[in-house]
Amino acid sequence: MTDSALADYFSDADIAQDPYAYLAALRGRNPVFREPHHGVVAVTGYREAIEVFRDSETFSACISIGGPFPPLPFEPVGDDITAQIEEHRHEFPIHEHMVTMDPPDHTRTRALLSKLLTPKRLKENEEYMWRQADRQLDEFLANGRCEFLDEYGKPFATLVIADLLGVPDNDRDEFRAALSGHKRPGSRVGALNHEPVGANPLEWLDDTFGAYITERQRDPRQDILSVLAGSTYPDGSVPSIIELVRPATFLFAAGQETVTKLLSAAVRVLGERPHYQRLLREDRTLIGPFIEEALRIESPTKVDFRLARKTTRLGDLDIPAGTVIMVCIGAANRDPRKFDSPDEFRLDRPNAREHIAFGRGIHTCAGAPLARVEGRVTLERLLDRTRDLTIDDTAHGPADDRHYVYEPTFLLRGLRNLHITFTPA
Ligand code: HEM
Repeated sequence: MTDSALADYFSDADIAQDPYAYLAALRGRNPVFREPHHGVVAVTGYREAIEVFRDSETFSACISIGGPFPPLPFEPVGDDITAQIEEHRHEFPIHEHMVTMDPPDHTRTRALLSKLLTPKRLKENEEYMWRQADRQLDEFLANGRCEFLDEYGKPFATLVIADLLGVPDNDRDEFRAALSGHKRPGSRVGALNHEPVGANPLEWLDDTFGAYITERQRDPRQDILSVLAGSTYPDGSVPSIIELVRPATFLFAAGQETVTKLLSAAVRVLGERPHYQRLLREDRTLIGPFIEEALRIESPTKVDFRLARKTTRLGDLDIPAGTVIMVCIGAANRDPRKFDSPDEFRLDRPNAREHIAFGRGIHTCAGAPLARVEGRVTLERLLDRTRDLTIDDTAHGPADDRHYVYEPTFLLRGLRNLHITFTPA
């Protein structure tokens, strides 16, 4: 066994900075491999990862965010622990949010969300993105340099969701301030050293949105929050205020850090690879494939978890009920059985879009179309409004000796900062 496959994924700071050699070593042992520290079964194969995502009967999402932390609130007994999961469901972190739910609750909650993400609303939101991209570029373009995450990525992702949900204009600056940097709710989720996942890190947003919804129930307006406030479940029953609020607030958790990580990964490649930058400047239709390849090679959600609720078999491994499964999205997207030369960024990769950066099955990312448009709008405006764009040597070192720092979490993959320089067009 290589040393690499023996390391503790959940606390090793070097693996957090560069997980791919470790994940490949796991796959080299077996695409379905029980790691020795926490007994977590790591799924690094593309086919096997999809099998887990698609089988919500066998694999529960109740631990999708925290994985082995905190430990299960019960001792699994027998070959089907469905009843135990249900009995203890309220003790799982983030149990209030759809990402940890199983049918039928998941189906009901996701139906509420679809009321928000209508084609009309998404179109209006895209129009907002074009305006907001320019507004933010205006803030720093003349300087010839910026730190891309703080000056563009984070505020852009926050404000786009605020717009999607119809947060009143007057309140948006407050959202931008409250959700950026240190005060960001939930920002420690998935940190190394087994930081406990907060009981509900989105409480701050719950209060704010609760007030909006109550106001709209009293006095409906022509806005999306009023649509949400008047929603019913598919069976006609009426959700409580908090049930209405949570699908909305969860979008902030799901769509901010992930989008920021996608945008910075894509801009880093633009800065590092002048050839690709030239191609994109000449032909904007290449931006779509460029974003897909960025999602594949630096999947912002690095891993995702499921709990085997029934004893089963995955790959060539027996999986007892109660086993924590870690679906390694970032590894599945580099499985050489699926993607040729998987560690290379290739603009002409024919199957790049088959990546599973947005998951698969019933929990497939509800914001994937939005994230893709955010990527396209950002790159289009950045290319339109600059003549060149490079990595800032003074911050990251010269081209042959770059240093990048990644967020030290086991859950997500993304740069801590990205300094770039450019010439305004
Ligand atoms: C590049 C950006 C993004 C990535 C990589 C990403 C990734 C993911 C993944 C992997 C899942 C599946 C989780 C699971 O199966 O356990 C997911 C779920 C979800 N995502 Fe995203 N996401 C992104 C952006 C967004 C955005 C912008 C939004 C909304 C504004 C969003 C909303 C959601 C929601 C609501 C879910 C839960 C769906 C469910 O449980 O049914 N995501 N995302």
